[in-house]
Amino acid sequence: MAVGDAHPLQHLTGDNLSVQRPCRAAVTLLIAVALGACSGRQSALDPAGEEASQVAQLFWVMTLGGALIWAGVIALALYASRWKPHAVSDKAAGRLILWAGAVFPVTVLTALLTYGLWLMPSLRPFAQQQAASLTIDITGNQFWWHVVYRLPDGSEVVSANELRLPVGQRVEFALRSADMIHSFWIPPLGGKMDMIPGRTNRLSLMANRTGTFRGQCAEFCGTSHAWMALPTVVMPADQFEAWLIARKAPSPGLVADDAGARLFLGQKCGSCHRVQGIAAEGKAGPDLSHVGSRLSLGAGLLENDIENMARFVSHSGFLKPGSQMPFYLTLSETERSDLSRWLKGLQ
Ligand code: CUA
Repeated sequence: MAVGDAHPLQHLTGDNLSVQRPCRAAVTLLIAVALGACSGRQSALDPAGEEASQVAQLFWVMTLGGALIWAGVIALALYASRWKPHAVSDKAAGRLILWAGAVFPVTVLTALLTYGLWLMPSLRPFAQQQAASLTIDITGNQFWWHVVYRLPDGSEVVSANELRLPVGQRVEFALRSADMIHSFWIPPLGGKMDMIPGRTNRLSLMANRTGTFRGQCAEFCGTSHAWMALPTVVMPADQFEAWLIARKAPSPGLVADDAGARLFLGQKCGSCHRVQGIAAEGKAGPDLSHVGSRLSLGAGLLENDIENMARFVSHSGFLKPGSQMPFYLTLSETERSDLSRWLKGLQ
């Protein structure tokens, strides 16, 4: 028997199993990866909002429908090529073309189009503008998010790089861009919407489950596009209310005569960043009034702790290539520590 020839009884021996095992492992891995994509804090298939549920439903209807049609076509092909490979009359062929080639696709596509159009009004922002309990302005920047909560009494709360939403309440987003085209997308909450310079696009979302999710800029906007995430926390309505009221005032952790505060002002950080309660009114960079309480640093880039704060201050351009923030490599170890400790205290 030549090398490579299979032994006639190989299918009964362990050799065959050893060949199948890696195959089976690969298939299992593939299925696990595919199923893994169905859940998680950035999955459109694990909806936590009304709009995302509709998108997920449309996805499953189309996937299952497509799979059924594919199976039908394959069955027909097998029938014609393997089981009954005989010629059919011109009349039968004509009927097949009419029903399976014209009537069936037109019916299926019309049904899908009707279903898709029926879903659209709820995705259209203006139809629901009246029902929104809160408007949030979000402006995309390279590579961070400027967030302004507009309260019914006309006041506003400014924040950045993190979004908080009340569960069960419709929120309207006014989406803008300060530089490039960005795209606002929180997959578990709903569909995406581009942020285009010189335009305001409106999107309405309603979260129906509390939790922490991950939004992501979905339009390539430069070197650190992939580092432009938007951690999103959906909270019970009363907790959200309390959170919002607390954000109207300077951080209770703010120590205005601290060494960190003096460095912050001395290094002119206040020209780009705003910190409520001190003379820092900059608008070119993220608002830092309550930066210490955020879940992450650098728009989802790093865990928010004092060490990472110091790393980000001195090496922002290494950590986030293309970002507008200058390096602060000249700061001494003590200065970096003072500054980051003070910033982290802005809870
Ligand atoms: Cu902003 Cu991609």
